[in-house]
Amino acid sequence: MNYKIAVIPGDGIGPEVVEQTVNVLNCVGDKFNHVFEYEYLLAGGCAIDEKGTALPEETLESCKKADAVLLGAVGGPKWDDPNAKTRPEQALLGLRGGMNLYCNLRPALLYAPLKDASPLKDSIIGDGIDICVVRELTGGIYFGERGREEINGIKGAYDTERYNIEEVRRIAKIGFETAMKRNKKLTSVDKANILESSRLWRSVIEEVAREYPEVEVNHMYVDNAAMQLVRDPRQFDVIVTSNMFGDILSDEASMITGSIGMLPSASLGEGTFGMYEPIHGSAPDIAGKGIANPLATILSASMMLKFSFNLEEEAKLIETSVLKVLENGYRTGDIMSDGMKLVGTKEIGELVLQEILR
Ligand code: IPM
Ligand code: MG
Repeated sequence: MNYKIAVIPGDGIGPEVVEQTVNVLNCVGDKFNHVFEYEYLLAGGCAIDEKGTALPEETLESCKKADAVLLGAVGGPKWDDPNAKTRPEQALLGLRGGMNLYCNLRPALLYAPLKDASPLKDSIIGDGIDICVVRELTGGIYFGERGREEINGIKGAYDTERYNIEEVRRIAKIGFETAMKRNKKLTSVDKANILESSRLWRSVIEEVAREYPEVEVNHMYVDNAAMQLVRDPRQFDVIVTSNMFGDILSDEASMITGSIGMLPSASLGEGTFGMYEPIHGSAPDIAGKGIANPLATILSASMMLKFSFNLEEEAKLIETSVLKVLENGYRTGDIMSDGMKLVGTKEIGELVLQEILR
């Protein structure tokens, strides 16, 4: 089969980690007789420099025509002025909104060989952390009306959190479907003691829950969820939540696994199309040094094979190859610990290739 992949290397370490990932995809393609065709596109800071906009029209159009999108990272200090009219982050929101990718899956998995990298005590980690955050991605305060205002001569600003029942229902369904494939436990996170939009959210979750009697559901306020994630992360299986709460909790969930440089993500909509990217940022401080960890992007490609191309076996092979490289003691700087072998971006990429070919 032929698959068309739109590739957005982006800024900072983006191009380096994407390069290794494309090598991995090609290797898997050769082994299993698939052809992956790539179209490289501009978005983020580099697009601002070259085109004057973070998300050029042609990038969005080409992405829509592809079977899936692979994204490195966008942003960097050069474009960091929060008052600037064009900011790299606009590319992300434009891609998510423009392609209706309303569902963001962020697995937070503690890789056994990296256990020591978790900041949590062994007694809390127990036999491991394996959480999947299902974040709503095209609604809520990220996309609501915002602006500046002046009331009684005092300047102010506002953003709005807004959800309708259709938006909640479709993400709720994915939450439940995800739970059905895992340990059948779903925690819906909201702030229903304060926010009206959360009360609506909660009632829709309750309604959808009736279609999934096997799934154990509970509701949790976001402040409590933030606390429970460090107190007892093993109580969680799937977390479903709004755009902004999901943004915050997925960073926390990834940190407790100690492998923020390891975690992939998938942004999905209707059908099989999706955008895949590591959850880490563009790490401008280490860009161009050849030391960035490409494993999160490589694992994002594995999610692409699974969710967009339905290539389960190929996806699994990437995952087990990455795990094998870690088990063999190889580490990039971000996940380095005593007694391990320190390698760079290219070397760890090549080690993954060797495992795939084995
Ligand atoms: C993320 C990031 C983005 C977000 C930023 C860069 C716009 O933090 O993907 O979690 O807030 O969604
Ligand atoms: Mg974030």
